[in-house]
Amino acid sequence: MDIIPLDRDDDVMLKALHGVATRSEAVSRVQPIQRTEEEFLKMARFSFPGEREETAVAVVDGAPVGWVRLFLPERDNLDKSWSQLEVDPEHRRQGVGSALAEWAEQRAETAGRHMLLTEVFVPVGDRESHADREFALKRGYAVSSVEIVRSLPLPVDSDVLAGHESRAAEAMGDLFELTVHVDGVPDELRQGVCDASNRLILDAPTGDVEFEPESMTVEDYETLLAHLRDTGRTMVTAVAVHRETGVVAAYTDLAVPSGDPDVVFQWGTLVLPEHRGHRLGMAVKAANLRELGRLAPERRSVQTMNDEQNPWMVRINQDLGFEIIEEALTMRKAF
Ligand SMILES: CC(C)(COP(=O)(O)OP(=O)(O)OC[C@H]1O[C@@H](n2cnc3c(N)ncnc32)[C@H](O)[C@@H]1OP(=O)(O)O)[C@@H](O)C(=O)NCCC(=O)NCCS
Repeated sequence: MDIIPLDRDDDVMLKALHGVATRSEAVSRVQPIQRTEEEFLKMARFSFPGEREETAVAVVDGAPVGWVRLFLPERDNLDKSWSQLEVDPEHRRQGVGSALAEWAEQRAETAGRHMLLTEVFVPVGDRESHADREFALKRGYAVSSVEIVRSLPLPVDSDVLAGHESRAAEAMGDLFELTVHVDGVPDELRQGVCDASNRLILDAPTGDVEFEPESMTVEDYETLLAHLRDTGRTMVTAVAVHRETGVVAAYTDLAVPSGDPDVVFQWGTLVLPEHRGHRLGMAVKAANLRELGRLAPERRSVQTMNDEQNPWMVRINQDLGFEIIEEALTMRKAF
């Protein structure tokens, strides 16, 4: 077996990795996501501004059998790194995962990082016994937090949604203006959405790991929008602006991928601490779901992940009808 750095211009290799990732996800996720080859290639080639990616492939007899992506933020959280590791199910238990993990850990350490974080998805009830968790524990990782993956069956009943919308509208009063935007918020809201998004990592519970705020700029946001357009993803964003100050008090994003015809991803949701208590979380989420129903009525579910120690967000999701489908263990290795 050889471990080689991924050449992101190598179409043949990336197409073969699409097969590896698809087969790995088919056995390791409760609701695997479909991705077209084209979508996969574009995603594998994209690096978010301010974050460096190093990727390695395990090759056996000339064909890739696994890969690891190492993400190194370069403007904030400089002590940390993230990895994503997948081994083709037919090639598991042959040391491939260990060799790739070793590569990523060494690269992270060489880059001066002191922590590597990764996610292990497990079906409900397997938290203490799952093979992928065993793999990570054996390599010296510890569980730092647990997120619960939930799915909301679509369409949401219109009357139920209307009930949430009117209760939220009552709690918001005239203090806030609620708007919904497709494929990016208008220029005047971009800085506010970046500010809110940057503090999400601070405010959402994340177990025993402390994070610094992120540093997305308006320019980065625009780079992300261009990438989403390029991969055929539609993003729906609901924003609540505090009328008196003009501050973006709350936002939430939904992403509608092109490759999977059924699923929609819930991305970040944040209500600024000084504006909590006005049901803004429910207001933005319900407004976004209403718009989603108009825009993509054929979609079957929305998938979201929340730390199990985040009762506020979980409560909103439960009220909307989200149901638990699996768990994601955040595993941390320190060096
Ligand atoms: C986790 C994963 C990367 C392991 O890849 P792999 O190539 O099978 O790993 P290795 O062969 O190097 O396994 C090393 C050790 O991990 C443990 N392990 C791996 N699979 C296991 C299983 N099914 N049951 C119990 N222990 C297991 C064993 O201790 C194994 O050593 P051994 O075979 O000598 O007993 C792979 O199963 C995978 O792609 N899973 C889905 C994605 C994922 O969870 N990634 C995050 C990993 S941190």
